[in-house]
Amino acid sequence: MGRAAILVARAVFPQTIERLRRHFEVEDNAADQAWSPAELSARLHGKAGLFATAGERIDAALLDANPQLRAVANMAVGYNNVDLPACTARGVLVTNTPDVLTETTADFGFALMMAAARRLAESERFLRRGEWSRWSYDMYTGSDVHGATLAILGMGRIGQAIARRGALGFGMRVIYHNRSRLAPGQEEALGARWVDKATLLAEADHLVLVLPYSAASHHAIGAAELASMKPTATLTNIARGGIVDDAALAAALRERRIAAAGLDVFEGEPQVHPDLLAVPNVVLTPHIGSATVATRRAMAELAATNLIAALGGATPPNLLNPEALGHAAR
Ligand code: DGY
Repeated sequence: MGRAAILVARAVFPQTIERLRRHFEVEDNAADQAWSPAELSARLHGKAGLFATAGERIDAALLDANPQLRAVANMAVGYNNVDLPACTARGVLVTNTPDVLTETTADFGFALMMAAARRLAESERFLRRGEWSRWSYDMYTGSDVHGATLAILGMGRIGQAIARRGALGFGMRVIYHNRSRLAPGQEEALGARWVDKATLLAEADHLVLVLPYSAASHHAIGAAELASMKPTATLTNIARGGIVDDAALAAALRERRIAAAGLDVFEGEPQVHPDLLAVPNVVLTPHIGSATVATRRAMAELAATNLIAALGGATPPNLLNPEALGHAAR
C-alpha cells in the first residue's frame, strides 16, 4: 500500500512540512493562498488527512465530497470551524492543539486587558499624530488593573491561567462564570469565586471572555449584557468572534456605556465591523493570541503528531471524537 496523501491547508513551518513528508505524500500551500471552500474541497480529493487551521470550514458538504478523508488535525485549540458530529458520523477523526498555547494566550489576554484599561493604543495614536504638546493631570487616565475585579467568562485552561495572573500577580479579586464550576480546591488555589452571569457582568471591572464559540455562546455579550456592566468597565475578547455582538459593542463604546475594549477576534474576521474601527476606545489585534514563535511551533508540531498518529492507526493524543474510532466507515 502506498503512503497516505494529505493536504496542508495553510502555510506552516518548513520543519513541520518536512516532518509530514517523511510520513505522507504532502500537498501544501507554501504560498499561503486563500482557498475558497470549493477549492479546498477540490484539493482534498484523494487525501486521507487534512492539516487545517481555524480558518477552514470542515462541514458536511466538504466531507460528503471527500468520503476518503479519515482525519482532520486542526492547528488551534478552538474547533468551531469543524462540524464535529458530521465528522464523527463519517468516521473522520478530529484533533486540536490544547495545552501548548494556554500560557501564551493567557499572557496575551492579560496584555489586551491592560492595554484597554490603560488606554495604550489610544494614547499611542495620539502621540503618533503629533498632538502631544504638554502633560495634563487627566490625559488618558484609565482604570487600575491591580486590586480591581477580574471577571472571567469561561473557565477552561486559558481562563484559569488568566485567573492566576490576576490573583497572584496583580492582587485582583477574581470572579468567574462557567457552565461547570471548578472543584472547591481549584477555586481556592486560583483565588476565584463562581458567580452567576448577571453578577459577573454587574461586578466586573475587567471582563475577559475565554469561552468556546457555539450556538449557545453566540452573542453571549450583546446590548442587554453590555447595558448591565459598569460604565468604567473594560471588555476583552480573546475567544472567538460571534460571542460578542460587535455592532452592539461599538455602540456601547461610542456612547461610553463601557469604558474600553480589547478585541483579538471578530464576527466575520478578517473583516472588522466598521463601527469598531471608528471608535477610539478599543484596542484591535488580528487574532494573534497564541502568536509567539515558540507556541506556534508547538501547535504545528502537535497538529502533525496528531495527524501522524491518526493516519498511522494509533489514537492521537488530542482526539476530540473517540466515538469515531469504532465507526464502520474506518
Ligand atoms: C486557537 O488555537 O483556537 C486560536 O484561536 C488560533 O486559532
